[in-house]
Amino acid sequence: MSLLQVKDLVVEFPHRRGTLRALDRISFDIAPGEILGVVGESGAGKSLTGAAIIGLLEPPGRVAGGEIVLEGQRIDNLGFEAMRPIRGRKIGAIFQDPLTSLNPLYTVGRQLVETIRAHLPVTEAEARKRAIGLLQDTGIPAAEQRIDHFPHQFSGGMRQRVVIALALAAEPKLIVADEPTTALDVSIQAQIIQLLKQVCKERGAAVMLITHDMGVIAETCDRVAVMYAGRIAEIGPVHEVIHQPAHPYTSGLMGSIPDMTSDRERLNQIDGAMPRLNAIPAGCAYNPRCPRTFARCLVERPELMHAGATRAACWLHDAADPHAGQAEIAARHHDAMAAGERATPEAAETIVEVTR
Ligand SMILES: Nc1ncnc2c1ncn2[C@@H]1O[C@H](COP(=O)(O)OP(=O)(O)O)[C@@H](O)[C@H]1O
Ligand code: SF4
Ligand SMILES: [Mg+2]
Repeated sequence: MSLLQVKDLVVEFPHRRGTLRALDRISFDIAPGEILGVVGESGAGKSLTGAAIIGLLEPPGRVAGGEIVLEGQRIDNLGFEAMRPIRGRKIGAIFQDPLTSLNPLYTVGRQLVETIRAHLPVTEAEARKRAIGLLQDTGIPAAEQRIDHFPHQFSGGMRQRVVIALALAAEPKLIVADEPTTALDVSIQAQIIQLLKQVCKERGAAVMLITHDMGVIAETCDRVAVMYAGRIAEIGPVHEVIHQPAHPYTSGLMGSIPDMTSDRERLNQIDGAMPRLNAIPAGCAYNPRCPRTFARCLVERPELMHAGATRAACWLHDAADPHAGQAEIAARHHDAMAAGERATPEAAETIVEVTR
């Protein structure tokens, strides 16, 4: 059974001039003990997905549709207070900047002991012993002394280790880690990721690892979800998504992984930019940048469908017929164009071919 199920999740921001839909029907599962990577360009909706799961969406952002189910319990409709015991006990969080998770006025020991005792029935002395154990497990040297130090007495990397210890303190089933190493020195990023992977695997905790770094995903995750414009473009086992990407966006991203086997960095930028939330095109959100756009892509939104070893939201993988209804679509599109809506040059070319 899944540990976490996210079904058709919609997150919106109501504004004076209309509502912005930032997550548009996101669905995925995380199995117990699994590491799911979430990757995509800046603004794709990765952090909002994490925030919705831990119940920390900042107003006016709100879950406007769908469900989030943790161990069979629906949690998307719990208020901030009702989520409190779940946050910490069942879901631990790690953010980019360790200082956002730590109180500068308290020793790390006090914060660990309080978290442990808030969620687990243990004495102060037992909690302190556990806290020292956690600091040791996360690689803090001289943990018995360091436990009485304040956050500012730790380096950035050591502080993030403390945050990992804090996230694990109440033995949660799921850790949501949002760009946990982006703020750290490059030289220690890999160590922290390895540590996160190791301590979570040892405890059987599942991880949702949000990052824009495909290299981290490749080395760490079991499965990966590729996000684009508030939707999931592709999801599947990490090896398959990287080596046989089914979605043209994933193929583009894969071209952006530095090639470790050669001296040259194979940085393949995808032309264009992700659309703004108020200008997401009809049909497939990727259609203005996709080298393979065809008429259907402009009008009909593709849902995730089986695509070899992964699932991709792309009409190229429609088992029935990728070009289904193409002539009719092209005709509809012509009407839309006549009404003044614009199409991409590639798409327009396809339409011309289809209707010729
Ligand atoms: N408070 C807000 N009001 C309006 N839009 C927001 C707000 N917070 C985030 N967004 C938008 O939601 C989208 C997804 O943001 P986010 O999840 O932070 O992206 P990522 O983590 O993938 O870089 C972005 O387009 C961002 O501008
Ligand atoms: S649905 Fe069409 S536009 Fe979207 S990724 Fe697939 S081919 Fe490209
Ligand atoms: Mg983010």
